[in-house]
Order: sequence, then C-alpha cells, then structure tokens
Amino acid sequence: MKPLTGLNRFFRNLPTHLAIVTMCVLWIIPTLGLFITSLRPREAVRTSGWWTVFRPQVQVGETEYRTYCASCHGVDGDAIAAADLSDPAVVSAYPRSNRLLTMLRRDLESGPHLVDPPLPAEPNAALEVLSPIVTYLQTLSGINPEAERFTLRNYADALVGYKGSQDYLTDCEQGVVSTLAKFDCDASDLLKPEGMGRAFVNTLIMAIPSTILPIVFAALAAYAFAWMDFKGRQWIFALLVGLQIVPLQMTLVPIARLYVQIGLAGTFLGIWLFHTGFGLPYAIYLMRNFIGGLPREIFESAYLDGANHWTAFCKLVLPLTLPAIASLGIFQFLWVWNDFLVAKVFLSTHPVLTVQVTNLIDPRGANWHILTGAAFLSFIIPMIVFFAFQRYFVRGLLAGSVKG
Ligand code: HEC
Repeated sequence: MKPLTGLNRFFRNLPTHLAIVTMCVLWIIPTLGLFITSLRPREAVRTSGWWTVFRPQVQVGETEYRTYCASCHGVDGDAIAAADLSDPAVVSAYPRSNRLLTMLRRDLESGPHLVDPPLPAEPNAALEVLSPIVTYLQTLSGINPEAERFTLRNYADALVGYKGSQDYLTDCEQGVVSTLAKFDCDASDLLKPEGMGRAFVNTLIMAIPSTILPIVFAALAAYAFAWMDFKGRQWIFALLVGLQIVPLQMTLVPIARLYVQIGLAGTFLGIWLFHTGFGLPYAIYLMRNFIGGLPREIFESAYLDGANHWTAFCKLVLPLTLPAIASLGIFQFLWVWNDFLVAKVFLSTHPVLTVQVTNLIDPRGANWHILTGAAFLSFIIPMIVFFAFQRYFVRGLLAGSVKG
C-alpha cells in the first residue's frame, strides 16, 4: 500500500478534526460570553450583549440627547447652578439609568424634563435609552466610564452575596447604610453566610471527604472481592452491582428522617456518609474490575514471600491502580461538587455553591449580573480539576468498557 503522505493524512483526518473544532467552539463561545459578561459593569450587562465589548465604543456627545441636554445644562454641563452636571458628586448620585429615569420623569417648571424624543413608557425600553446618557453624564463630570468597561464588582457582589440596588464596593465607599446592615465592608464579609465565598469553603469541606472516603472504602472492598476468599463473595458482589440502580431520590425521606433521629441532620458528617454510600457501589464495581484484572502471579509471589493482605494492598494494589483511583476520584469529585439535590436536602444550614447560586437569584430577575460571577466561581474548581487530570478523565470513560 502507498504510504500516506502528509496531505493524504490531513484529508483523512479532516472530518474528525472538524468535529473536534466544532465541539470546542460550541463549548468555548458560551463560556467566553459568560466570562466576559461577568467582568462587565451591571449597567452594561443589562443594556447590551457581551459581544459589544469587541466593538469600538461610541463617541460621547453625538446623539440628539446630548445636544438636547446641553440646550439647558450647557455644553460643559454647568449652565444651571442648581444642577451642575460637571460636578462628579452630583453625577455619582445617578450611577445607573433607573435613578436617572426617576429624575428625568420629574416635571420641570416649563414642562417635562425630557421631551425630545420623549422617554418610552415601557420601563426596560426607557432604561435602554438612558444608558448612553449615564455614560455621557459620567464623561462630562470626569468620572471616566471607560475605565469601568471591565470590573470585578460582580465578583465582589457574588462573593459577599450582596443584593443592593448598587454594587457592594460602591455602597461601601459611599457608606449607604440601609442595605449594608449585614455587612462590615472589610474582609470578614467574604465569609458572610449568604455569600459565595462562604459557600466555596462549604463546598470544599463537603466535597473533599465525600470524594476520598468512598474511594478508600471501595479500594479496600474491591481488593477483598478480588483476592480474598470468603463465603458468598459472588453474591454480595452481585448485590452491590444491583444496588447501583437504586435511585437516589428514593432514599431521601428515610435517610433524612434517620439523620434527624441520630442528630446528623444538616451536618457535614451526614452528607459525607450519604455521598460515600451512594458512591460506593459503582466505585467498588469499577475498582473490583480493575484490581481483579491485575496478574495473579504477582499476588502469588507476594504471598509466598510472606506478604499479608495488608502489605499486598498497600505495596502492590495501590500503586498499580493509581490510574483507576484517579479517574474515579475525578468523577466522584465532579459529581459531588455539582450536586444540588443532596446538598439542599442534607446540608441546608451550610449552603454549598450550587445551593447558594439559587439563593442569589432575585425572584424578579433583577440582579442576574451577580449570577455571572457566581456561576464562574462555582465552576472554576471543576475546570481546574478537569484540565489537570484530563488524561485520567478519558481513561476513566474507557475504564468500564475496556476492563469490564
Ligand atoms: C428644559 C431645560 C432642561 C433640559 C433640556 C434638561 N434639563 Fe436637566 N435639569 C433642568 C433643570 C432646570 C434642573 C434642576 C431642577 C431640579 O432639580 O428639579 C435639571 C436637573 C437635572 C438633573 C439633576 C441634577 C441634580 O442636582 O441632582 C440631572 C441629572 C439632569 N437635569 C440631567 C439632564 C439630562 C441628562 C438631560 C438631557 C437628556 C437634561 N437634564 C435636559 C433643565 C433641563
């Protein structure tokens, strides 16, 4: 057969490459969009899409509003002494369109403040119209909105769980007391119970033992199932495999009631045990296949050399099954990290990230800019885990099919 030339190979692999590239693009675009959105000021998030950051910014001073405003307020904004728009202190009282909207809806002596063109009656449309005016005012007064094209304020809001009408950092600077009642405006806010910062810590405390415990037990049990002789071994193993199909939801009520009786309700120990229990059947099954597949000879020679089960497990099995342990660990960790239901039911007193995100949602959908930051905070660790261990991830996907 003619050896494949470079070009030939290129064309033969082209469909695969195209598929992979398409999948990457499909994944990356929304992620990038979310990331960019999370870095934009909330006003910008509300009024325009994230892709607009790639457009050059509109020059301030062009639209009809600006000439219109200047007709009374003057080109520099300081023609009316009582309403000096060039004064940063005045303008910073209108950080967002909805405040300005209330102001501009007010009538002046000669008639409505804004007549040409009139403000749309529909609130969202009006806000959209006003957002460039906010920018205009900020530029006029020297509060430079350009510098605020990207900001970490959404992350600050998400970390402390702040739901005020302005963002947390601004309110702290200005000392707006009413919404700040629960906050101290220092580092201690990062661990306030309603913030993502606290939830992050809670999730780590919840997830790490919930990953390690089932793997430790599964490895030990799998060793026993594979290399120790005891009565009913096959039956117990078959039972375990069968247990995998028990739906998690079915056990919520009995276990919740049990936990209340024995005082484990709402404790980390309770959720560790729950995740361990539910992780075990599959983990044992996978590890048993892997450990059972190790060559019999190495165990026989080890036993001949006087090794007991414990040394065989530590010195032989653990090093040889590291890839399986790693892939299992990744899957269990991701599952536990992303779990909502179990955490909501058993750990409501220590909200984890998935639960806290839902606490941050405003029922009227007003503060969804916080969610962008919150979403990113909650999937940063899974992303790191995934990219750090992607080798094992693929192996883990194949582990069941090849070994089993
Ligand atoms: C018809 C003349 C006129 C026009 C046009 C006009 N304003 Fe005003 N504006 C006033 C007067 C007079 C006041 C002060 C009266 C008051 O405080 O109620 C004022 C007050 C304000 C204030 C409040 C300032 C403060 O001290 O809190 C803001 C903000 C403002 N105008 C913004 C605008 C913007 C933006 C435009 C253009 C869209 C505009 N105005 C167009 C006359 C005008």
